[in-house]
Amino acid sequence: MNGARGTTGWLAFWNGPRPIYVSERHRRVHYAKVADDILEVLPRPRARVLDFGCGAALEAGRVAEACARLYLCEAAETWRAELAERFRDHARIEVLDPDGLDALSDSSLDLIVVNSVLQYVRRAEIPALLRRFRAKLHPEGVLVLADLLPERATAVADAASFLRVAVRHGFLPAALLGLVRLLASDYRRLRREVGLTVLPPAEIAALLAEAGFEGRRRPVNFGFNQRRATYLARRSRPRGLERPVAVTEEGPDHHEAGRGHLREQVVEVQRAGEQGHERAGQEKADERHDRETRHGGLVGAVAREGPVAVEAVGYRTANEEPEHRREDRARAA
Ligand SMILES: C[S@@+](CC[C@H](N)C(=O)[O-])C[C@H]1O[C@@H](n2cnc3c(N)ncnc32)[C@H](O)[C@@H]1O
Repeated sequence: MNGARGTTGWLAFWNGPRPIYVSERHRRVHYAKVADDILEVLPRPRARVLDFGCGAALEAGRVAEACARLYLCEAAETWRAELAERFRDHARIEVLDPDGLDALSDSSLDLIVVNSVLQYVRRAEIPALLRRFRAKLHPEGVLVLADLLPERATAVADAASFLRVAVRHGFLPAALLGLVRLLASDYRRLRREVGLTVLPPAEIAALLAEAGFEGRRRPVNFGFNQRRATYLARRSRPRGLERPVAVTEEGPDHHEAGRGHLREQVVEVQRAGEQGHERAGQEKADERHDRETRHGGLVGAVAREGPVAVEAVGYRTANEEPEHRREDRARAA
């Protein structure tokens, strides 16, 4: 995590006084929106969440209320020190440096949020970073790459979007002053000299696929700038299995034990698939499905817990019928 964009480039910038926030009101409005966005994509209640490159994370306390654990990972030392101090006694928040990510248990995270970070990371470093995220993400977990720059990213378009937010949230005078300050700041110089990483949609898809993810663009971006993009990604499904055919829905009132059971199920199915024993996994899912829905042909279940959280927990193997169903039919005949 160093090099041109590391200790001497963008990271040095984020370690410094950061003139990017033009007023306290701007900072508060920004972090409140990011917290709202994170809460909207939580895949399940009591999730274990990593906010990678979290910045000041002013509303992390509010996010943590909905989580079992919230890891705030920040590469900039000054920010990290502020966070560590602020959340020293918080029962659910832990502050990490990027190396701390590797110390987390594999497959332990339900959600990884990377908001407004990848543009500051060198393109060459991104594949390894995505692979590290994949290792830590639960098979049903969600990776969010947010606030990615559009192909034709310009400072003028960013400034226009920023001024609209300033008008809406009542900090226009500070915003105008801030833009003037920004003209003479390191941000402008770094943007020109070091540059920002721009990832067109095809490149994001390729990077995700290479790292073992399947992603799709979220209709709305995190934050305020809708010219930028957010992608939601999940670990790719095991080879040889079809798309989930899913399909019972659990209401929010479904008890946690039942959900846990469904989760175990998909892990079993995925493991079975990864090991090349699709049938074994399939049959387990099928038994479960038969109990759940009594609907032949469907082999999965969906736990729906939030607006974007549709969890596929069963897969159908191509052209295969579960053995126990064949046996049932033979008995009936
Ligand atoms: C614009 S701030 C985003 C902060 C926060 N996510 C938000 O939404 O406001 C950019 C973040 O990228 C992080 N960052 C920049 N370069 C990085 C690198 N090479 N590795 C890891 N994080 C980096 C900075 O430390 C900073 O937290």
